[in-house]
Amino acid sequence: MLVLGIETSCDDSCIALVDGTGKILANVVSSQVDIHRQFGGVVPEVASRKHLELLPFVLHSALSGAQITLDAIDLITVTRGPGLLGSLLMGMCFAKTLALAKSKPLLGVNHLEGHLFAIRLDYPTLEPPFIALIVSGGHTELVDVAEWGRYQVLGGTRDDAAGEAYDKVAKFLGLGYPGGAIIDRLSEQGNPQRFFFVGGLETEDTLDFSFSGLKTAVVRTFSRFSKEEKQNFQSIVDLVASFQESVVRILLKKTITALKITGYRRVVLGGGVAANRCLRKKMKEGGEQRGFQVFFPSPSLCTDNAAMIAICGLFHFLQGRRDSLHVEPDPHFSL
Ligand code: KG4
Ligand code: ZN
Repeated sequence: MLVLGIETSCDDSCIALVDGTGKILANVVSSQVDIHRQFGGVVPEVASRKHLELLPFVLHSALSGAQITLDAIDLITVTRGPGLLGSLLMGMCFAKTLALAKSKPLLGVNHLEGHLFAIRLDYPTLEPPFIALIVSGGHTELVDVAEWGRYQVLGGTRDDAAGEAYDKVAKFLGLGYPGGAIIDRLSEQGNPQRFFFVGGLETEDTLDFSFSGLKTAVVRTFSRFSKEEKQNFQSIVDLVASFQESVVRILLKKTITALKITGYRRVVLGGGVAANRCLRKKMKEGGEQRGFQVFFPSPSLCTDNAAMIAICGLFHFLQGRRDSLHVEPDPHFSL
């Protein structure tokens, strides 16, 4: 069994090949970050045009890297949503064309479920039940995974997603784009205890998140800095390290509450922010102290990729699901 995965929900043009056991044969990610950096964020119209231009090359790279021809593929999977409509359309149009031209079955995949399934690429035998924490640029979701394919969202963000807050703080401080990995790196040199930020909803009895207020608190603290302090590298890294400490503390706190409510003893993470070193460390430590297991995909499988789409699509295909060539993208596709 050979599965082709296509992912174009945002600004990465991704194609992967995964076999029936979940082994990755190719996983190509063509990042558009250098193009969007000059605008300080993703420009949707530019992203969709770039997908159109890049996808044929990304496909060629994946197939030749794995030494496989299109004829040998058994299933074509593609992200249906959530994401940017124009970007999703490009991936779906590309997938439908391949499915039609080569008479292959087609399956649309939920991007968030893909992030959830990324863990199976590293831990093929991992089975629910567990709590999943999906933390990306667009989502912060705590999910009760009773079994693969059966989900109950326990909490989500009411405003900014965790990754979005990272990106906005980095942009405000002029640190670069995308901000998550930059703040992750800079924070290693900072003092996370220098400032204390309480997150919105942190102390409230809900599994929802709110990161917008946290971002504003960082902005306010910076604006109270003296002129010299604003130029001072140590003050800036202390500020971002303290911001990160708060984000991680909130994510850990709500995850622990979700474990208590469900009685589960395992947590699976996914999404770009799950690549964060501080989050990985603190979550592991939390698990050791409180007796729950924590599973992270390897960092390159946390951020957007098509291998996670392929393995998620493979699961549904084996359950008997198929999509017609009329399947449409859904920018607000929920779990
Ligand atoms: O899952 P992803 O690649 O795309 C979405 O589905 O949104 O996540 C991208 C997000 C961005 O906000 C990016 O800044 C953040 O993940 N991110 C990180 C790290 N690497 C990527 N955030 C914190 N620490 C990182 N190391
Ligand atoms: Zn994503």
